[in-house]
Amino acid sequence: MKITLLVNHVEKRGFQAEFGLSLLLDYRNGKYLFDTGAGAALAPNLARLGIAPKSIKRVILSHGHCDHTGGLAELSPQAIYACQGVTMPHFSRHDDGKIHLLTMPERSKNVLKECKFHNVSAFQEIGKGIFLTGPIPRTTAEDCGGDFYHDAACTIKDEIPEETALLTAGGILVTGCCHAGILNTLFLCEKIHPEIKIHTIVGGLHLRHASPARLNLTAAYLRRIKLRRCALLHCTGDEAIAFLKRSLPACKFVDLSLGETICF
Ligand SMILES: [Fe+2]
Ligand SMILES: [Fe+2]
Repeated sequence: MKITLLVNHVEKRGFQAEFGLSLLLDYRNGKYLFDTGAGAALAPNLARLGIAPKSIKRVILSHGHCDHTGGLAELSPQAIYACQGVTMPHFSRHDDGKIHLLTMPERSKNVLKECKFHNVSAFQEIGKGIFLTGPIPRTTAEDCGGDFYHDAACTIKDEIPEETALLTAGGILVTGCCHAGILNTLFLCEKIHPEIKIHTIVGGLHLRHASPARLNLTAAYLRRIKLRRCALLHCTGDEAIAFLKRSLPACKFVDLSLGETICF
């Protein structure tokens, strides 16, 4: 498996940074784009790497938030893998009380209408040895945090039910924002595929506002599964990453920068 970071917020000379996530996955010669960023960074970063947007035929959308789906407008894939509801309205309320629209942009929705939509309704294998979790139930007491709603008036609570993560048969877990919680995500994978021992996590863990209790629980579980390596990106949060680094001395933390590829 090769993973190339195409969109993230950490600046790097020659690349466009933005708050969002996009990863190009190359697995057993099958290429998948996992998320597309917010919209401004994907095209210039692909150009910088000499990757033609037209060469991206398969796109996985981890969830509908615009920082993961905005770049879809720059692509013309043949197939999109996502859970039903990926286009539903999403809003968030920040600490200052401001409401932010997070729904997939219309231009991206138009691209979605043009290609084959694979509804990931449940855990499934989409290519040899590559699985999507489908909707991730919040089965543990993990405090997933986040002030998310389906309406601008903030009356309908949003648990981002369409969120999916990706698992390989070789034990690599790829996450978008992990709004459902990394523990819930790991538990689902272990329940469906107990034979796959997850040793690597790549993506966002949405731990920016996590309580010390949640961080402790997360670290304890990652120690228990003997996590060997991770590249924590996007919404994980610098403080959470620093905490996990201190708490998981046996785990290698890869600082994946824009345009860089890691091989497993
Ligand atoms: Fe995000
Ligand atoms: Fe998100």
